[in-house]
Amino acid sequence: MSHKIQIFDTTLRDGEQVPGCQLATEEKVIIARELEALGVDVIEAGFPISSPGDFLSVVEISKAVKETIVCGLTRARKEDIDVAAEALHHAKYGRIHTGIGSSDIHIKHKFKSNREDVLEQAIWAVQYAKGKGYEVEFYAEDAGRADLAFLARMIEAVIAAGADVVNIPDTTGYCLPHLYGKRIQYLVENVKNIEKAIISVHCHNDLGLATANTLSGLINGARQAEVTLNGIGERAGNTALEEVAMAIQTHKDLDLYTNIKSERIYEISQLVAGLMRMPVQANKAIVGKNAFAHSSGIHQDGFLKHAENYEIINPADVGVPSSSIVLTARSGRAALKHRAELLGHHVEGEELNMLYENFLMVADEKKMVNDADLIALMASLPVLINK
Ligand code: KIV
Ligand code: ZN
Repeated sequence: MSHKIQIFDTTLRDGEQVPGCQLATEEKVIIARELEALGVDVIEAGFPISSPGDFLSVVEISKAVKETIVCGLTRARKEDIDVAAEALHHAKYGRIHTGIGSSDIHIKHKFKSNREDVLEQAIWAVQYAKGKGYEVEFYAEDAGRADLAFLARMIEAVIAAGADVVNIPDTTGYCLPHLYGKRIQYLVENVKNIEKAIISVHCHNDLGLATANTLSGLINGARQAEVTLNGIGERAGNTALEEVAMAIQTHKDLDLYTNIKSERIYEISQLVAGLMRMPVQANKAIVGKNAFAHSSGIHQDGFLKHAENYEIINPADVGVPSSSIVLTARSGRAALKHRAELLGHHVEGEELNMLYENFLMVADEKKMVNDADLIALMASLPVLINK
């Protein structure tokens, strides 16, 4: 049986914590509407107590979004939960995301507390949030480094207190994929009431493993993935929505699916990059400028013979208009001939050899040969041939 994975997008909360990426409320509403059209299940719209701007954003997104769950973050504190509940007032479906540190490092050095007191606070926060009438998600911050037996105790206790979703964040991006997966498996096997809640995975990318860890968590029984567009977020970022959605779509053997309308991915990625003034790196998976660009001769030749030789995703499936063949000094005759044909010139034999020689000279000089360069080269062909 295929399992639905809920996509919880936190671009507007964890993503927006990136310095210099702050958005105005109207911009957040634009992104939230696009997220809903993209098919995400939950939008984390902000941390309402953190600032009047965040409060307002949660209010406006709650009004703007129609069917998607709108979520507000809180600490395990009364004032945070009160403010979040107020901000979510207009939401058709609202969720309070409350939680506390679960690792000994956080318990000792952040809360200056002990396991028992933190556990009590967690239970109280879930019960209090539940009393507000919304769905409640509990996050066990720094779960990636928490003592497993204690983490399991905490998760069992918050589910008993009413948590609908339990988030197991790898807050510091510390985990390795097989070990993060084992953490989720341990919770599935050792938390007695685990079937009463959905397990959520929330991974950071400090070791470049956020997507791998997220997938490992899903394979081991988690049913919600917390992600951001373009993988933006604190420090090295969060798990990228587009990577998880396309990994699941590409690997049908996982028997998982999401509601993401993948053909909308590229457009919303560009929108977020533009509004947040956070350009997407060229080699970023799925949405980077080079994600569907082929530049070496061997790859170009193979790609032109059959796209699947070098592409595992059809660019149209993520809304990228087409693959591109980049003409550089590494390109071969096949790519050059192909581009010339696209420009309306059929070249072969000696003519192609001549064009190729001249093309290489320009490519060495210019790094990338564009259509204008190629048109100029082809215009000079008869002169070159008659020399
Ligand atoms: O990384 C983290 O632990 C978080 C929590 C607040 C969910 O972002
Ligand atoms: Zn986070």
